[in-house]
Amino acid sequence: MRSQPTVLVVDDDLELRQLVAEALEQHGFAVAQAGDVADALARLEGYAYDGLVIDLRLPDGDGMDVLGSALARYPEIVSVVMTGAGGVSDAVQAIKRGAVDFLMKPFQLSRLAVLLREALSEDAPTATMTARDSGVTLQYDRIIGTSKEMQRIFSTIDRVAMMNSTVLIHGETGTGKELIARTIHEHSSRRNQPFVAFNAAAIPEGLVEAELFGHIKGAFTGAIAARIGRFESAHKGTLFIDEVASMSLALQAKLLRALQEREIERVGESKPFKFDIRLIAATNTDLRKMVKDGSFREDLYYRLNVVPVVLPPLRARKDDIALLAQHFVKLSCKSNGLSLRTLTQSALRTLMDYSWPGNIRQLENAIEHAVAMTGGDSEITAATLPQEILNPERGTLLPAVTIPDEGINFTSVVSQLERDLILQCLEKTGGNKRQAARLLNLSRTTLIDKLHRLGSPSEDFTAV
Ligand SMILES: Nc1ncnc2c1ncn2[C@@H]1O[C@H](COP(=O)(O)OP(=O)(O)OP(=O)(O)O)[C@@H](O)[C@H]1O
Ligand SMILES: [Mg+2]
Repeated sequence: MRSQPTVLVVDDDLELRQLVAEALEQHGFAVAQAGDVADALARLEGYAYDGLVIDLRLPDGDGMDVLGSALARYPEIVSVVMTGAGGVSDAVQAIKRGAVDFLMKPFQLSRLAVLLREALSEDAPTATMTARDSGVTLQYDRIIGTSKEMQRIFSTIDRVAMMNSTVLIHGETGTGKELIARTIHEHSSRRNQPFVAFNAAAIPEGLVEAELFGHIKGAFTGAIAARIGRFESAHKGTLFIDEVASMSLALQAKLLRALQEREIERVGESKPFKFDIRLIAATNTDLRKMVKDGSFREDLYYRLNVVPVVLPPLRARKDDIALLAQHFVKLSCKSNGLSLRTLTQSALRTLMDYSWPGNIRQLENAIEHAVAMTGGDSEITAATLPQEILNPERGTLLPAVTIPDEGINFTSVVSQLERDLILQCLEKTGGNKRQAARLLNLSRTTLIDKLHRLGSPSEDFTAV
């Protein structure tokens, strides 16, 4: 940032414009002013301002055009939109175009100065795009989202962060479960204590207990030294158990006992350790279904599901796609040391039309890919997006199975896959087997036959 950053303030309301200019000058900015579109464009042509503060409704045209041409010419210009009560949706559009924030009139002048300073400082995280007064929060720390669903989640975080209640986050892969868990921790009184994440599906079943509760030296073959478990490392902080559904019934019983007694014993030792943790669990499978079919303990389910947070898949909150995409473009350009690129309308449309089975993580990766493919151009076109997004029907339908060193049981992996595909189709068709068979290009009898052979989960579905 220059020692005295320059800002162009554009508003036809002379009085307000002058107030803003004076306040910014007091905070160390050099300020230029314009009262209409023509004047603003002329000034932008002649000088590379660091910041732009603009009202979208101007007497001779649309402030959005000024914003667009400022961003096209100076991708790094920090722009803030000022808007009246009726202008929130325009302001949101402006943010989608690349403005960093908007302020509802009347606003605190000092807030504008702080906002510009933060956005201009070198190590600025992407500026906080909150507009709480208007009731729309575009960003909650690192969580982006304008959709109703995300607004609800922001208010849940607000309500529960300071409490000690256990939270269970439900959501498909890549929907942001861990991000939400971390944000809850960061807003709790435990924020200066550890946040310990544990993925119950990532390590072999036999090691989960020792990993969670710790073990003494010699507790089992391979336990060459004593180790503390995740419960102990998370003491006084937050323990996040991801993919809790993958725990065996035996382990579920041990977890339940620990949570009830508020103490654990290291494997091989009988001295209890009293822990003080806040537990957040996450699952990408429907635990209620598992409770029904006996593969998840009902008592544990209720103990975990005190505050449920349901993260909808990205395809169910399309409103968030543009903003998220823009956010990832900024992050990716920044981490690659590039000046800011913008997405073309057709790239945005392609992103909006896609179904995102891998949710936000997939979107993040797609943008990373597109930025890399864009090279030196300032615009990210649709053509730079990954193949599976451009041609969804030709893209890989299933994630490749990675073969672990110890190999796999081919027959059981294949039957699991068959079962998953059949279940997915039955779910999609509300249990209608004829339609499900059509989706799979199988005959109805073959589908029914397979259901029987695979240990039919079909009780849940009425035969049609
Ligand atoms: N609302 C959001 N705003 C910004 N970034 C997000 C949002 N949701 C998720 N992300 C980002 O997407 C990526 C995936 O999120 P995260 O790891 O939290 O998902 P997850 O649900 O835990 O995934 P998995 O089920 O695979 O464990 C992360 O890089 C995260 O920062
Ligand atoms: Mg996760």
